[in-house]
Amino acid sequence: MAAPLRRLLLSLALLLAAATAPGAAAAAARLSTSYYSRSCPRVEQIVSDVVTAKQQANPSTAAGTLRLFFHDCFVSGCDASVLVSPLSTDRSPERAAEINLSLPGDAFDAVARAKAALEAACPGTVSCADILALAARDLVGILGGPRFPVYLGRRDARRSDATDVEGNLPRTNMSARAMAVLFARKGITPREMVALAGAHTVGFSHCSEFAHRVYGYRGDGYDPALNPAFARALRTSCAGYERDPTLSIFNDIVTPSVFDELYFKNLPRGLGLLASDAALWEYAPTRVFVQRYADNRTAFFDDFAAAMQRLGTVGVKTGRQGVVRRQCDVLD
Ligand code: HEM
Ligand SMILES: *[C@@H]1O[C@H](CO)[C@@H](O)[C@H](O)[C@H]1NC(C)=O
Ligand SMILES: *[C@@H]1O[C@H](CO)[C@@H](O)[C@H](O)[C@H]1NC(C)=O
Ligand SMILES: *[C@@H]1O[C@H](CO)[C@@H](O)[C@H](O)[C@H]1NC(C)=O
Repeated sequence: MAAPLRRLLLSLALLLAAATAPGAAAAAARLSTSYYSRSCPRVEQIVSDVVTAKQQANPSTAAGTLRLFFHDCFVSGCDASVLVSPLSTDRSPERAAEINLSLPGDAFDAVARAKAALEAACPGTVSCADILALAARDLVGILGGPRFPVYLGRRDARRSDATDVEGNLPRTNMSARAMAVLFARKGITPREMVALAGAHTVGFSHCSEFAHRVYGYRGDGYDPALNPAFARALRTSCAGYERDPTLSIFNDIVTPSVFDELYFKNLPRGLGLLASDAALWEYAPTRVFVQRYADNRTAFFDDFAAAMQRLGTVGVKTGRQGVVRRQCDVLD
């Protein structure tokens, strides 16, 4: 092949690569707080009203929705792909792979209700991905956490596939270093990662997620990173968890339903529930941020708000990419 032609093909390939893989910054730049100001001016009020009512009826909604938002963004970008129901498609969607991760029904329901209200007010306009981002933000505020603007204009996925999940979500058995590598792949710094992990100031975990730390750890002991009294209490509370897999423990045993900095205060005391929580304290590059947030709630809230905005830009589809789905649990 003639040299000039080869060079042309090469630059074409570069151009295409640039066009199909926009950086987070470029995508973020296309999101805006006023995205629906003409097409659906009451969007924020409508989402807020619906999720506030849902949270009053089912207080586990808030933590569940926050976790759902995180999982949506980490698997194929913040595109509502996590919302697709296994019942709606013959291909196995993300949720099928996440069954063991027990994503909470109330969170899906909160988004579905907000979507129904928005389809009545402004049909075919507001994406499910934006609704999830708004709902997560509102619910953090309801629990006492920071309020912050949500940049809008995300489009919904046309694809949701169970095989996309593997390798994209952190696991409790990962080292802090491995978690930092995973978050870095999503454009999230160690500091932002620690701030986001502060979400474990609310909600709960099933006993199976940390049972190895309290039953038969190196013989018949418990993980030495755990406070001994806490470890004994967990043994008692989780007794029989294999027969009753619903048994669960608050992530922040001190103030379980309040969004505050107690999660970070717990870690140096051996009161982190998951091995991944404890790991953030054991690893020097993340420990500095744990200490900072434990000492200063304002620093945590400021960083959490900024990190949530970053999280909300991961892999977003904008403009002509993706669609606005009519129903959040169905691909159409
Ligand atoms: C850093 C690595 C992380 C790991 C290894 C991890 C792992 C887990 C696990 C195993 C559970 C318990 C699930 C269950 O038993 O039902 C959980 C719960 C939770 N996670 Fe994470 N998580 C991480 C980061 C995050 C982030 C970044 C957020 C959000 C910004 C988040 C939000 C939550 C919430 C709110 C819950 C409670 C859910 C509920 O009560 O329904 N997590 N996490
Ligand atoms: C869920 O966990 C069980 C036991 O750990 C495993 O056998 C099963 O394959 C997992 N299911 C999915 C959908 O990952
Ligand atoms: C963590 O656990 C998962 C399954 O729960 C397993 O596939 C993986 O190999 C484990 N990773 C490490 C680092 O132990
Ligand atoms: C707490 O953090 C905030 C925000 O970073 C900072 O402005 C303030 O000075 C800090 N307070 C103390 C006591 O360090």
